[in-house]
Amino acid sequence: MSQRTFSIIKPDAVRKGHSGAILAEIEKAGFRLVAIKKLSISKAQAEGFYYVHKERSFFGSLTDFMSSGPIFVMVLEKDNAIADLRKLMGATNPANAEEGTICKKFAGSIEENAIHGSDAEDTARFEIGYFFAGYELV
Ligand code: TYD
Ligand code: MG
Repeated sequence: MSQRTFSIIKPDAVRKGHSGAILAEIEKAGFRLVAIKKLSISKAQAEGFYYVHKERSFFGSLTDFMSSGPIFVMVLEKDNAIADLRKLMGATNPANAEEGTICKKFAGSIEENAIHGSDAEDTARFEIGYFFAGYELV
């Protein structure tokens, strides 16, 4: 069943010039780009996006990082999109990421890990709605 997920190319990957290579991996894996835009988010906007982690020790550092430079936010579609994107990304920590995954190829650390992908249907719905209006999904 066709499914939508939400993804971010994070500031580290954009800074290093990996955006195009990551997008190519995503398209090669069969995802359709439903929406994409480049933007810089504020600290408060990063805190809103990651509110589920607000009690975690890394919350301050993570939201500083996510507001440290431009990102690409996008909506992707394919069968089993949520699980398949997580598989393509690899483990959150590049030290544990499998060979060939985006995290393994492009991430520098557990915090500066190049890409975000929604982890479930309800979080995908929240995350798509956080950054996109319905008319932007085409
Ligand atoms: P998490 O939801 O655990 O990982 P994922 O992005 O794979 O769903 O954490 C969200 C982000 O927080 C993660 O991409 C990177 C950052 N993070 C840290 O900086 N330090 C940590 O110890 C963890 C667990 C996450
Ligand atoms: Mg998560």
